[in-house]
Amino acid sequence: MSEVKVNTLISTEEIEKRVSELGASITEHYRGKDLCVIGVLNGAYVFMADLVRKIDLPITIDFIRAKSYVGKDTTGDPNFLLDTTTDFEGKDVLIVEDILDTGITLSYITRSFLKRNANSVAIAVLLDKPARRRADIKADYRGFEIEDRFVVGYGLDYNEKYRNLPFVAELSMYE
Ligand code: IMP
Ligand code: MG
Repeated sequence: MSEVKVNTLISTEEIEKRVSELGASITEHYRGKDLCVIGVLNGAYVFMADLVRKIDLPITIDFIRAKSYVGKDTTGDPNFLLDTTTDFEGKDVLIVEDILDTGITLSYITRSFLKRNANSVAIAVLLDKPARRRADIKADYRGFEIEDRFVVGYGLDYNEKYRNLPFVAELSMYE
């Protein structure tokens, strides 16, 4: 039977420090604005929970859940498994996602929110894998740049497992 070993790549302490820094930058940038922070379920839920507690502003929050094939539908209207209930008129939107990989999902999501009359749409990700990018998209706020490796923990999964690890890790399989 193969055994799975978890190797820490980014520690709980490193994440905590970086999330505080991101929260401070976001607070600075959105002061005096009407900010709505949107979490992309499921992967963003841990990062989102920590990040919003480091934003010292009277924000609102909402969530979406994207379909896994969402990126292939490049021209269609917003089509999410779970959608927001917020009225975005006059609001500034910050989309929070676990990782920016090919960028196809976030580029679709961003386009969808631009159609909803928000003042602005920005992106915050915990992790960025620029080597894998296929869509022309950049994160406005990002925690860590990582190499092209598959990682889990702090919300990120492998077959829906490991989301609850309090750090970011790589998995190794042993026979
Ligand atoms: P993309 O940027 O459209 O390719 O997709 C991003 C999504 O792929 C993320 O929200 C994750 O769900 C998933 N993903 C990409 N890289 C990883 C990884 O290293 N570990 C876990 N999930 C990943
Ligand atoms: Mg995901």
